[in-house]
Amino acid sequence: MASSAAGCVVIVGSGVIGRSWAMLFAGGGFQVKLYDIEQRQIRNALEHIRKEMKLLEQAGALKGSLSAEEQLSLISGCPNIQEAVEGAVHIQECVPEDLELKKKIFAQLDSIVDDRVILSSSTSCLMPSKLFAGLVHVKQCIVAHPVNPPYYIPLVELVPHPETAPTTMDRTHALMKKIGQCPMRVQKEVAGFVLNRLQYAVISEAWRLVEEGIVSPSDLDLVMSEGLGMRYAFIGPLETMHLNAEGMLSYCDRYSEGMKHVLKTFGPIPEFSRATAKKVNQDMCMKVPDDPEHLAARRQWRDECLMRLAKLKSQVQPQ
Ligand code: NAI
Repeated sequence: MASSAAGCVVIVGSGVIGRSWAMLFAGGGFQVKLYDIEQRQIRNALEHIRKEMKLLEQAGALKGSLSAEEQLSLISGCPNIQEAVEGAVHIQECVPEDLELKKKIFAQLDSIVDDRVILSSSTSCLMPSKLFAGLVHVKQCIVAHPVNPPYYIPLVELVPHPETAPTTMDRTHALMKKIGQCPMRVQKEVAGFVLNRLQYAVISEAWRLVEEGIVSPSDLDLVMSEGLGMRYAFIGPLETMHLNAEGMLSYCDRYSEGMKHVLKTFGPIPEFSRATAKKVNQDMCMKVPDDPEHLAARRQWRDECLMRLAKLKSQVQPQ
């Protein structure tokens, strides 16, 4: 394994998200040590990463300035957590979404790390105040929540514990930028962070509209894929408001009463009843049958679309 001037990053948990982080950090020139409780998982991860990187290189979509072989030489498995974390600049935890398991891992890390390394969790929804409670190194702890698949969707939500040091946020932000991701700062923790709060707001209204028979499930999805989603790949909802009038103030003057009128008609939180779930599933299955082969093929198509979109975005938004 090659050493790296950029430093060493440890990935704890070599599943779906751990593998993606390993590829991203190697793309940024970091030495990566993969740790997992299951040796087999480390072997599988290394094989998977090799295959993926070769395919990405052939498709011209490999991140960073190093070749696939150079990046692969930076990644290795490490069966011993104590050895793995020695001299690391960043530890990215990627074990299953289970508060007690993650707390156990962070308590173990807390007892062996120095005062400099960043302790970061990939959790999708566990609160930093619960995750990092009582740790000696709490100032060095942060959530860095990626979006699946992280290799193609660059956003990373950075969520601090109330005692996280500002330098931990700044260093993690800089690190994410260095590996080509797009970090954003959540100023204080909130359930669902920001991405899932927005996502659940959309799902909630989508469900109500289908349940009330206002639109079919597939037409509902078209509103996003052929409508809102077209612009949201480039500008967010707030900039959309700004551009759709003579600036934000003009938009609010013109449209806030209308928005409030519509928002007051929104219903309660859906129950996600079995009856509606079956109706939606029937419609979804006409396009993508819910057997493993069809689902895997559709996911692969989705990832190819995202890869092309990422290329397009890098051309229209030079960094
Ligand atoms: P996964 O189940 O694919 O991988 C988890 C890995 O952790 C497995 O390799 C397992 O052997 C290992 N592991 C279990 N216990 C361990 C221990 N005590 N020490 C070391 N390794 C251990 O899970 P996945 O999907 O990669 O998720 C990991 C984290 O990332 C979760 O917190 C999840 O919420 C978060 N996340 C997942 C996303 C997704 O779409 N899969 C998206 C964003 C975040």
